[in-house]
Amino acid sequence: MDAPRTAPPTPHPAWGARELWLRLAPVLPGIGVEVLAEVDSTNSELLARARHGRRAADLAPCLLVAEHQRAGRGRLGRPWRTLPGGALTFSLALPMAPRGWGGLSLAVGTALADALDPPDDGAPSRIGIKWPNDLWLLDARGGGRKLGGVLIETSGAVVPRWVVVGVGINVLPRQVDATEFSTGYGCLREIDPHATAPAALATVVEPLARALRLFEADGLAPFAARFAARDLLRGRTVTTSGAEGATGVADGIDEDGALSLRCADGLRRVSSGEVSVRLAGERATPAGSAC
Ligand code: BTN
Repeated sequence: MDAPRTAPPTPHPAWGARELWLRLAPVLPGIGVEVLAEVDSTNSELLARARHGRRAADLAPCLLVAEHQRAGRGRLGRPWRTLPGGALTFSLALPMAPRGWGGLSLAVGTALADALDPPDDGAPSRIGIKWPNDLWLLDARGGGRKLGGVLIETSGAVVPRWVVVGVGINVLPRQVDATEFSTGYGCLREIDPHATAPAALATVVEPLARALRLFEADGLAPFAARFAARDLLRGRTVTTSGAEGATGVADGIDEDGALSLRCADGLRRVSSGEVSVRLAGERATPAGSAC
C-alpha cells in the first residue's frame, strides 16, 4: 500500500507575493515571485534551476523567499543557520552585465541598510556595513553585532551572467551561544519592536532591485558615499584571513570595492574573494558557525 501523501507545507499569506511582484516587475520585467515554507537554501535552489532548469521561467529574474532554510549557506563555505520564522531569507536572481563586479556586495549591503535604516541627518546610523558583506547592528559605543549577511553567487561564463543575490537578516531575538555566534547576534526587533520578516522584505526588495540595476549601469560609484557613512571598519585595526593575512588600519575602499589597509609596510589592497576580516578583539569564527 502506498504511504499516505502529505501536502507540502504552505507559506503564510502575509508575504504578499502579488504586491512584491507589482513593485518588482517595473524594475525587473518578467520576474517571478515565489515563497516557500522551506527549502535547503534559496541560493542553491536558484543556482540549480539556472544550471539544470528546462522551463523558460528558470532563466527569468526570480525572487525566491523561504520561511525556513534547512541548509542555508554563508560566505566562505560556512553554514547560515536560522530558526524557522526567525529571519528573513531570500534570494534575487537575475542576469547582469556590469563593466566590473568589484563592490557588488557593498552596493547590495548599502541598499539594504539604507532601506532598513534610512539616513537621517543628525541621528546616528543603527546599521553599519562590515566589509565585504555583513550588516551589523551598531551600539552607541561604536561596537556592534552581526545583523545579516549577503551571499552573491554567479553561474555561467556568458554575458550577461546569471547572478544570485542571497540575503539573510535576523528578525527575532534568540538565545545565542557565544561559541557559535562569534560576531554576536543582532536582530531587527532591536530597531523596530514590530519588525517581521514579510515587512522587512517589503521594505528592502524594491530598493535592492533598483540598486542592482544602478550597479549594472554605473558600478560602485553611486554607492560610495553612502557606504562610507556606514563603513564599520574605517579607522579600526583589522586582521584579514587568507593566503596573505595582514593586520592594519582600515582606510575605506577603492573604486573596485577593495579594502584599503594601512599596514606597517605600507598600504595594502584587499579584494573580497576568499578573505574574512576580524576587528581587533573579535574571535576567529569557529568552524561551522555563520554569524
Ligand atoms: C554571510 O553572512 O556569510 C552570508 C549569509 C547569506 C545568507 C543568505 S539566506 C538566503 C540565501 N540562501 C542561502 O543559503 N544563503 C543566503
